[in-house]
Amino acid sequence: MSTPTTPRILVLGSTGLMGREVLRALNERGVTPRVLVRDPARLRITDVADVRVGDLRDQATLRAAMAGVDAVFHISPHEVDEVELTASVLQACEEAGARLVFAGIHITASNPVAAWAMRTLYGRLLPKYRGKIAIGRLVETSATRPVLLGVSNFMQNDEVLLDVIRAGQFVHPCHRGGLNRVDLRDLGEIAANVLLDPNVPAGPYPVVGPRSLTGPECAQVWSEELGVPVSYAGDDDAALEAALTAHLSGQRLADWLSSFRALRGFAVKTKTSEVDATARLLGRPPTDFTDFVHRIVVEHGLAPAAHAGADGIPTPVTGAHR
Ligand SMILES: NC(=O)c1ccc[n+]([C@@H]2O[C@H](COP(=O)([O-])OP(=O)(O)OC[C@H]3O[C@@H](n4cnc5c(N)ncnc54)[C@H](OP(=O)(O)O)[C@@H]3O)[C@@H](O)[C@H]2O)c1
Repeated sequence: MSTPTTPRILVLGSTGLMGREVLRALNERGVTPRVLVRDPARLRITDVADVRVGDLRDQATLRAAMAGVDAVFHISPHEVDEVELTASVLQACEEAGARLVFAGIHITASNPVAAWAMRTLYGRLLPKYRGKIAIGRLVETSATRPVLLGVSNFMQNDEVLLDVIRAGQFVHPCHRGGLNRVDLRDLGEIAANVLLDPNVPAGPYPVVGPRSLTGPECAQVWSEELGVPVSYAGDDDAALEAALTAHLSGQRLADWLSSFRALRGFAVKTKTSEVDATARLLGRPPTDFTDFVHRIVVEHGLAPAAHAGADGIPTPVTGAHR
């Protein structure tokens, strides 16, 4: 339950994949955070928040939303000016004396020289990630006592493409060496725990799932849960582009396309040390992909007995993503 000593929290990006899970987890802990949204209609009906309408590009609404806040959750949105947007958030946080809890891409290494070398290498290999790499560094060096949650590939990407999966294609590229995938509901719980506990030391923390999966493994799990054949089509670039174009637009589409294509080129292995660190922050082991898929199938009312009509043909999925 919320008490007078509960930190006052601002959740940015609260209508997005990560932010909505942070908002959910705070609500489950009896906390009503403040949110800054462009369009309140994009919040879920069940969300409980002190809603401020504004924009990260509008310094006045950003500063007003931060007034009196102890901790801020921030993701870097898919926007062309992502670096400038995060710089504004950091400046407002520093002025308000608020701690920043950031979730996204962050490169860590055993020492500063190795970290610099890795940032330079990744920037050369993945030029489209340069902004995201710069953002991690900006957050790390800010005067916000920052906590950086380095999140691996989202299991929730599949939920955005659920109708494509139901139609029999798993188009999300996963390297044959496996891709570590994390349930964002775990990220939400971790971020809520950190936002509510000012004693968590500043620094980078990994947020990962319990194992790395290949594309055929992901397709198989979806097939078993949905009761329909699903095959891996992650190497079919036309199918990927068609699926993403049907569900996303603008810079979000461009970022997803370039990141998904890049994922064909390398495995993301699961490190025991990172799973253990995630479990410590979570207070339990991270969610397995099979449990995530089962939950999504149940939440969308797609369990085989429930969704098949008399002719055995699944009924269409309702509920829109951008
Ligand atoms: N997908 C993956 O597997 C993966 C893995 C690791 C890291 N990441 C990183 O995660 C980040 C994206 O996080 P996400 O998927 O949670 O984002 P998302 O679902 O695209 O949501 C973005 C959020 O930011 C808000 N927003 C955007 N521009 C804004 C503005 N000018 N003012 C106020 N609010 C604004 C959006 O509000 P509206 O509702 O108004 O649009 C939305 O709430 C990216 O940096 C990506 O690189 C992704």
